[in-house]
Amino acid sequence: MKFAGVISTLALASTSFAAPSKRSCAAETLPTTVIAGVEVVDSQIVRDAHELVKEFIPLQPYLYNHLLRTWLLGAAALNNNATLKASVDLELHAVGSLLHDLAWDQRDDSPYNSHAYRFEIDSGVSAVDFVKNHPDGDKWDAVRLEKLYDGISLQTIIGVADFKNIDVQWIVHSIGFEFPQPRSPLIPEQFYDSVQGNFTNSTLFRGTNDTFTRFAVKDPETTYNTFLAVFGEEYVPGYQEKGHRLFDLIQGGIALELGQYPDVPFVPIAQVA
Ligand SMILES: *[C@@H]1O[C@H](CO)[C@@H](O)[C@H](O)[C@H]1NC(C)=O
Ligand SMILES: *[C@@H]1O[C@H](CO)[C@@H](O)[C@H](O)[C@H]1NC(C)=O
Ligand SMILES: *[C@@H]1O[C@H](CO)[C@@H](O)[C@H](O)[C@H]1NC(C)=O
Ligand SMILES: *[C@@H]1O[C@H](CO)[C@@H](O)[C@H](O)[C@H]1NC(C)=O
Repeated sequence: MKFAGVISTLALASTSFAAPSKRSCAAETLPTTVIAGVEVVDSQIVRDAHELVKEFIPLQPYLYNHLLRTWLLGAAALNNNATLKASVDLELHAVGSLLHDLAWDQRDDSPYNSHAYRFEIDSGVSAVDFVKNHPDGDKWDAVRLEKLYDGISLQTIIGVADFKNIDVQWIVHSIGFEFPQPRSPLIPEQFYDSVQGNFTNSTLFRGTNDTFTRFAVKDPETTYNTFLAVFGEEYVPGYQEKGHRLFDLIQGGIALELGQYPDVPFVPIAQVA
């Protein structure tokens, strides 16, 4: 789930100052298949990433459908622009899209959730581990693995990805297609219809709300200073972010500072009008 579907097409087109993405040679000759009408990469590692997230079908079906829509809507947008398609690493896009919320897994013995980090980080780490442990993982160099981690871990940090490389941008961008918003002109209507028809979004927001609230119940410390804290404040009795915020750290610093430097005056700069 990406925050506010701020689809900054302009940023994608013009503002990246990162070096152009270096494509893996393998990406040139990858087999393809069609899912819900959308042509996608069909390499072994993509197939295995897809198989892996199928375990969520009985457990958290909204999650499986969200991951598939993210991948397929992103792929439909890329397929619709040959220039774009040629500049994005489509296999990385597939694996990144499919595995971007692994840490939403609510099983007590989830292999994807460390209970120490927010879900975007755990999902990124889990995706990288999946690739490293895959028989074809040796085709992924450090740069590609870092893009995978970045694209997943930055998904809710609004704006950061806009100035990263195009591969990271498109993982985050594809997640953004999920937000309520007018249909993007980047995706032809027929693909919205076939993707939505095969992978429904009918419980996406209720499922997301439930998952995010559970993080605040089970691992509150991973939610402090993130957008997840609001779910705790709104829905979880006894939850309190106050005392754990960077705000609180700075207030404590003021008290400490006044004790250490009682004679140093602080002169604020001119007030904002
Ligand atoms: C395709 O994508 C490129 C790169 O983002 C962009 O410059 C171009 O305007 C797009 N073409 C169309 C027809 O949308
Ligand atoms: C579900 O997806 C369809 C197709 O993209 C979209 O038109 C609709 O607004 C979405 N509904 C919600 C609640 O996001
Ligand atoms: C599922 O996708 C196929 C294209 O692969 C499409 O023909 C079909 O109508 C879709 N199903 C629904 C229920 O929309
Ligand atoms: C969001 O999820 C929490 C936890 O499941 C639930 O208590 C709350 O009612 C949900 N909010 C809505 C609007 O459904």
